Amino acid sequence: MVIKQVALDIVCGVTSTLPDTGQPEVAFAGKSNVGKSSLINGLVNRKALARTSSQPGKTQTINFYHINDEMYLVDLPGYGYATASEEVKAQWGKMIERYLHTSANLKAVFLLIDIRHAPSVNDQMMYRWILEKGYHPIVIATKLDKIKRSQLQKHLKLIRTTLDMESGARILPYSALTKQGRDEIWELIDGLTGL
Ligand code: GTP
Ligand code: MG
Repeated sequence: MVIKQVALDIVCGVTSTLPDTGQPEVAFAGKSNVGKSSLINGLVNRKALARTSSQPGKTQTINFYHINDEMYLVDLPGYGYATASEEVKAQWGKMIERYLHTSANLKAVFLLIDIRHAPSVNDQMMYRWILEKGYHPIVIATKLDKIKRSQLQKHLKLIRTTLDMESGARILPYSALTKQGRDEIWELIDGLTGL
């Protein structure tokens, strides 16, 4: 994908009506601080279009980034943000569920997992949830720059087994620092959206 134009077009809070964009959408889910917004910035070659933070809980809305007026990258709020109140957590969960359930244009859901750690119980639930909604989750293992190259296969295997991934399901390692993995992710998105 050659990025000619990108804009944050639609922002949805817990009470917003979700849009029917009429164009292909791909969404990025994952626990707070895993690197969803950083990945979107990397994909669109911008440093700070999607706001990022070392503090978890930065993205609290569903943000639709419009690419070349033809498709959307959708940044979902992170789960597992410990200091959020139970009420807020439940609202976010409902918002994400509502989106996965109702979007007519959603082509794929990427689940981001920090490559350094075994997926959490929340990650496992999210993986199952995406499957139940009828999508084949595609795992992106983020923060690739934080592990030694020699440890890569071990970490990928731990993610695969902990999530009990379907055989043939993809895991794509990515680093927001080096942009390693970026082209593979775009290739996949291009195939999924038919663009
Ligand atoms: P929420 O909006 O809270 O759900 O978080 P998020 O998933 O959008 O995470 P965000 O992109 O804001 O990144 C969180 C922190 O991790 C920031 O300090 C980023 O700079 C850092 N980070 C993200 N991706 C990478 C990566 O690939 N490598 C390294 N070293 N740091 C990363
Ligand atoms: Mg974010």
